Amino acid sequence: MADEPPNPLQRVLPGGIVPEDEVVRTEQRWLIIMLGMLAVMMAVIVVTSLTHALHPPSNVELINSVTLHLKGEFVESNLGTALEPDGSATVRLIAQQYSFVPECVNVPADTPVKFRLTSPDVIHGFILGDTNVNTMVVPGFVSEVRTSFTTPGEYTMPCHEFCGVGHQGMWARVTVVPREQFPKLTVVERTSCVPQ
Ligand code: CUA
Repeated sequence: MADEPPNPLQRVLPGGIVPEDEVVRTEQRWLIIMLGMLAVMMAVIVVTSLTHALHPPSNVELINSVTLHLKGEFVESNLGTALEPDGSATVRLIAQQYSFVPECVNVPADTPVKFRLTSPDVIHGFILGDTNVNTMVVPGFVSEVRTSFTTPGEYTMPCHEFCGVGHQGMWARVTVVPREQFPKLTVVERTSCVPQ
């Protein structure tokens, strides 16, 4: 014991104990790896939000959920797809326990499409796979999301917020029709593509 170094850090440690400087070095390495991963994830969020318009919908627009069936923008006759004077399309939908109204809408391809949704009861969700459309539908608010579809086809839009016992059966469809074909549809066909 007499020839032990006077500095306790230089003494030989009992087997199985890792010296403090090695612990510090390992911790610093992991910290750098973790900060690197955080930087990569932040960069992915920033780049996708700038290039793919992937960002939380920030439309703050209030609506009275008690009277929305009776007056204003979301009365039944005004639901579905409408063409705007500038050539874009607006789709108005109500998300309610446990269906979307209407359950199927036609929209034109290669056209700016604006979805406007609201709920008369509880929080629902609205997502279209392979697009940037993903929003919550909160009673008392109008959710607005903008997108456009390049390829004709059918998109399913399930409710993705748990809204009650019927949640798993709550879904609807968007059918994207070729741009030149859309104006030939009747108002009824635009409003709903549910098989009659
Ligand atoms: Cu509506 Cu889940």
